[in-house]
Amino acid sequence: MASEKISSNLFWVGSHDPHLRRFDIVMETKYGSTYNSYIFESNGEYALIDGSKLGFEEEWLGNIKEVVAIEKISTMVVQHTEPDHSSAIAELLKINPNIQIYGSPLAMANLREIVNHPFNAHVIKDGEKITIGDDTLEFIVAPNLHWPDTIFTYIEKQKYLFTCDFFGAHICVEPMALSAIAQKKEYAESFKVYFDAIMSPFKPFVRVGLAKIRNLKIDYILNSHGPYLDSPEAIRNAQNLYQKWAEQPVRLRKKVTMVYCSNYGYTKLIAEAMAEAIKEYDVEFKMYDIVESATSDMVADIEDADGILFGSPTIVADVIRPVYDLMNELNPFVMMNKIAGAFGSYGWSGEAVGNLLTRAKQLKMKTIDDGFKVRLNPTADDLVKAKAYAANFVNGLY
Ligand SMILES: Cc1cc2nc3c(=O)[nH]c(=O)nc-3n(C[C@H](O)[C@H](O)[C@H](O)COP(=O)(O)O)c2cc1C
Ligand SMILES: [Fe+2]
Ligand SMILES: [Fe+2]
Repeated sequence: MASEKISSNLFWVGSHDPHLRRFDIVMETKYGSTYNSYIFESNGEYALIDGSKLGFEEEWLGNIKEVVAIEKISTMVVQHTEPDHSSAIAELLKINPNIQIYGSPLAMANLREIVNHPFNAHVIKDGEKITIGDDTLEFIVAPNLHWPDTIFTYIEKQKYLFTCDFFGAHICVEPMALSAIAQKKEYAESFKVYFDAIMSPFKPFVRVGLAKIRNLKIDYILNSHGPYLDSPEAIRNAQNLYQKWAEQPVRLRKKVTMVYCSNYGYTKLIAEAMAEAIKEYDVEFKMYDIVESATSDMVADIEDADGILFGSPTIVADVIRPVYDLMNELNPFVMMNKIAGAFGSYGWSGEAVGNLLTRAKQLKMKTIDDGFKVRLNPTADDLVKAKAYAANFVNGLY
């Protein structure tokens, strides 16, 4: 599998991973992936942008050599240091240890811990420009897309924008230009799956990243996975889709989502009493019995809510598993600062409510009380107290 000429001064020199079936442990990649790397040439000077993964260095370095001797490369830009783009860089540096490597402060610090060998590092600032031959590379700091180290690189004169993982898709194709690939349907599917898995926890940062490139003139978006974008329609479409998927829902009322499990129905009685109280308020309210509901619906309503009430009976001194399973679908980047409450019926030791709040705190949620628990079957008096708890919880959202 060979290097590809994108235009007179730009080459794709990445590597193909057709057999990859799982990325970052949890993401299914049924179409494989590529680790894109690019060489930009200007007046006899060469810059390499993004790297490759260890295990793929032979193809990567081989593709570079088709374009230029590795010893002649003066500059490398490391836009992101996740090992799929950085673990093979040590192999490149064995051939040419003089390359000047540019990246964000964290990227350079990370790379030091990945290469484990000295190299020439230059820490960039937002908006900093460097010269390659007759051209200028401008660095655009765009953090948390999807690591805190991430940057974009723009060559204004050529209208090239390098975005690393942003606008990527896990799909192994050849040739690498989107306009030339046959698998358009599979590509569209991978582009969305990729956004959901990699970018969606960072929606506020996606919006900032999009704003930073909105007014740039771009002929090529040179990403790091799957086909690069080489037409005005594809570039507009990718920006529009990211904009839509990263949208902040506009809601005028506060929203509470309640999720619970109940075996003999005692926790359910508490849930229903709380629901009755919440409905007295001018808030949007969603309620789910976890074992009867689709995870994706619950996650969507939890992520969209201002406050979440988690309910579980205590079973074998802990929260019952479906509640934990659901909470494990959530991540701190999205849940941070949302208000958490907890409730449940218990028999004798009653650990579940405290453990629900512990998990909520791990998700960086805020807790405003110690939760609400009842021994076994709630009395009418317990249900009055449950309503008071819920009312206090709603008031805590403002
Ligand atoms: C298998 C099993 C294990 C239990 N383990 C505990 C426990 O460790 N500590 C406790 O306080 N209650 C324990 N209980 C009691 C339940 O928490 C109690 O029956 C509660 O009322 C169930 O509420 P639910 O009707 O909402 O499921 C256990 C119940 C079952 C069925
Ligand atoms: Fe990454
Ligand atoms: Fe990546």
